[in-house]
Amino acid sequence: MARPRGARVVVGAARGAGRPEVGRSPDVGLAGAGLGQPGPAGGGFPSAGFHGTGSPGAGFPGARPRRLRGTPALRRLTTETRLHPGELVLPLFVREGVSEPVPIASMPGVVNHTRDTLRAAAEQAARAGIGGVMLFGVPSTKDAVGSGATDPAGILNVAVRDVVAEVGGDLVVMADLCLDEFTDHGHCGVLVTDGLAAGFGDQVTVDNDATLLRYADMARALAAAGAHVVGTSGMMDGQVGAVRAALDAAGHADTVILAYAAKYASALYGPFREAVDSSLVGDRRTYQQDPANHRESLREVALDVAEGADIVMVKPAGTSLDVIADVAASVDIPVAAYQVSGEFAMLEAAAAQGWIDRERAILETLTVIRRAGADIVLTYWADEVAGWLADGRDDVLAGHRVGGAR
Ligand code: PBG
Repeated sequence: MARPRGARVVVGAARGAGRPEVGRSPDVGLAGAGLGQPGPAGGGFPSAGFHGTGSPGAGFPGARPRRLRGTPALRRLTTETRLHPGELVLPLFVREGVSEPVPIASMPGVVNHTRDTLRAAAEQAARAGIGGVMLFGVPSTKDAVGSGATDPAGILNVAVRDVVAEVGGDLVVMADLCLDEFTDHGHCGVLVTDGLAAGFGDQVTVDNDATLLRYADMARALAAAGAHVVGTSGMMDGQVGAVRAALDAAGHADTVILAYAAKYASALYGPFREAVDSSLVGDRRTYQQDPANHRESLREVALDVAEGADIVMVKPAGTSLDVIADVAASVDIPVAAYQVSGEFAMLEAAAAQGWIDRERAILETLTVIRRAGADIVLTYWADEVAGWLADGRDDVLAGHRVGGAR
């Protein structure tokens, strides 16, 4: 499409009154922007300079990054980050004792699956070509130590068996290794009353080392059920080392540990707590990190790597892009990021109001998580996005459509 080269510089003027007309009035426009005086023609852009000799007059930019943004095809060619289904992981919830999938009000389109619909969802995920699924179990009974997590007949262990049997050859089957869905108090481990809060009265907190013993049991149960990957998400000190040792001693040397290494105590887990019917009262600030901290994440990651993590994860993703970038620069193993329930819910809510372009916003958030340095992204949109990518819609951010298809 031909248009005069000078046209773009008056876009500001065309857009409406009130804006400075950059380029139209070089004295206040270009000069004001520190770009100096226009070339000899003066009084606006000397079109001869652009179209004639190819050497614009003094004062015009020699470097024009916009040149590569001029058409959808150029943008597509020069994009630095592309999404691929293989790097996406879909979290799935399975609930004990239900005969129909149960919708999660704060996560439109996401459900608590029955064992049967979970199998079907995993099969669909495999067909969509995504990299893996991350399973979370919602038991019908809970207790103080989260017995359901280590019971071979517990819902998560049973579901892992089901899904591995269904699609284990086609995608990576991951399971959450944490007690919070299984404890009646909703915490990620077993509780103890300690004196840490001396002066504020005793506080009930999670007993780190007693919890490690439970995690070791849970790791053995999940690996025995066939999980390819266990996601240590409890933020106990030493959990990766304890789980690695337990797996190795039980003959599961090949079970992969995806370490939730940097995990912030985030308000954005709210919808997830509804999803897993969490009993939590209070918060997890004695074990999850303060969102204000950055160095601490690098320490957490270094510890997990030293303890034998195979993949490290940062969570939540969208509010931790700086952390993802620095983690990616500091490790030589894959880096994952979890786009959590609150990130999903915020965007879905805005899209439902018509306040945001849902598809573009989803692709933008995922792309920038990858741009920050994540190799793997857990997202509730994984299989939907994989479908878009398969449709040739991978360049939607560039505004490009292969064959115009859409
Ligand atoms: C812990 C766990 C949580 C999430 C993933 N694993 C909840 C928590 O830490 O409170 C949150 C995921 C999300 O919000 O999407 N089992």
